[in-house]
Amino acid sequence: MANIPPDYDSLDFFSDPGVIDDPYPYYQHIRGKHPVHLQDRHNVALVTGFQEGVAVYGDQEHYSSVTAVNGPIPPLPFEAKGDDIGDQLTAHRAHLPMAGLLVTLDNPEHHALRAFVAQLFTPGRLRHIEPRLQAIADHLINEFAETGEVEVVREFGVPFAGLVIADLLGVPEADRAWFREMFSTRPRLDQAEKPENYNPLAFLDDKFTEYMVERRATPRGDVLSEIANAVLADGSKPTLAQVVSIATFLFGAGQETTAKLLSSAMLMLAEQTELQARVRADRSLIPDLIEETLRFEGPVKTSSRLVCKTTELGGVTLAAGTHVALLSGAMNRDPAKFEAPDEFRLGRPRVREHLAFGRGAHTCLGAQLARSEVRISIDCLLDRMANITISEARHGPAAARNFRQEPGYVLRGVRRLNLCFTPLVA
Ligand code: HEM
Repeated sequence: MANIPPDYDSLDFFSDPGVIDDPYPYYQHIRGKHPVHLQDRHNVALVTGFQEGVAVYGDQEHYSSVTAVNGPIPPLPFEAKGDDIGDQLTAHRAHLPMAGLLVTLDNPEHHALRAFVAQLFTPGRLRHIEPRLQAIADHLINEFAETGEVEVVREFGVPFAGLVIADLLGVPEADRAWFREMFSTRPRLDQAEKPENYNPLAFLDDKFTEYMVERRATPRGDVLSEIANAVLADGSKPTLAQVVSIATFLFGAGQETTAKLLSSAMLMLAEQTELQARVRADRSLIPDLIEETLRFEGPVKTSSRLVCKTTELGGVTLAAGTHVALLSGAMNRDPAKFEAPDEFRLGRPRVREHLAFGRGAHTCLGAQLARSEVRISIDCLLDRMANITISEARHGPAAARNFRQEPGYVLRGVRRLNLCFTPLVA
């Protein structure tokens, strides 16, 4: 039977599985209409244009981050009235999902909390933990290095990124094995199996509440004590629940994302033998590989904003109360910005201008950490694994691969990546 082209206009980006496997033709279709495409369904403007996306990221006067994670789902708990909904937002903010997380705050609260969290990511602190990244990677690789097979998302990427954040936060050595165990054994539920308000990282809340209560009573001079007893730039002292969420949000923001960046880069290397040989022979190419992967197949598909004051974007009027979906995967493949955007080109000029880490006031605080994590992981994996290929037993033959993509409209990346390789002695 001939392939029938999908009717893109009938697809709902936010709920339709049809755009999960390969969203890029859909993005192209939407961009063809307009780089800022208003959709009645969900009252959302889909932004596929690079320049328009940059404008939104840079404008905190007209766009609120209150919906940054969930976007238009669930809908606002109030009916937007007038050209400025600032007061309505203030009144309802606490009832919006994820309220209070750094990424959903607006100024002045955002500025004060970001300044505090940013201290965890200073270049000095990142240099200090870099040798630990290598040790964590080696430790995890030892668990599968001799078998010639690995499922790189669950056996390596997720525990690795989680253990690195635990290290950054100064989780005591004695507890690391417990964290390792929890990262590997927590169930991976499919979308349909998830109960409402399902939080796969709930176990972290209990553990970090324990740490914070202890360190508020008896500070120990460690990073956890610093967070527990934080005083923000505006002089405010966060509540216990807030300091716990500072810590747990970092796992939410930095674990699956980093694991997905690593698996997408490893997928490229495993599928393209020549690319693998080049990068294996010249490891200074790894940073370029990472940047092009971020552009080509970034782990965050959508960042969202809410228009809080009526404005105009790319010639389109956006009324206060309109949702804005910044489709990073589309903006990073905008032909007005990147030449031949659907080609994966190592060494592409100005690739670092991609929007995979966002832009502006909320730019990813973990971007440098994520880059270091993935650079060191790829280096260590190449040291221990020769002839890396995709497992045909798990993902089918080269001409008909079968990968399950992460469901939903926020993250992008394969759920499992089974690789085969020839073990190398360290
Ligand atoms: C490849 C991995 C990662 C990607 C693609 C990524 C992507 C992003 C994006 C797009 C944003 C901006 C959201 C917005 O403007 O609405 C963001 C914010 C953030 N990310 Fe990341 N992230 C990654 C890794 C990490 C890591 C490792 C950490 C920390 C351990 C982290 C911590 C944060 C924090 C704290 C924010 C909020 C910043 C703010 O609101 O001021 N991220 N990230």
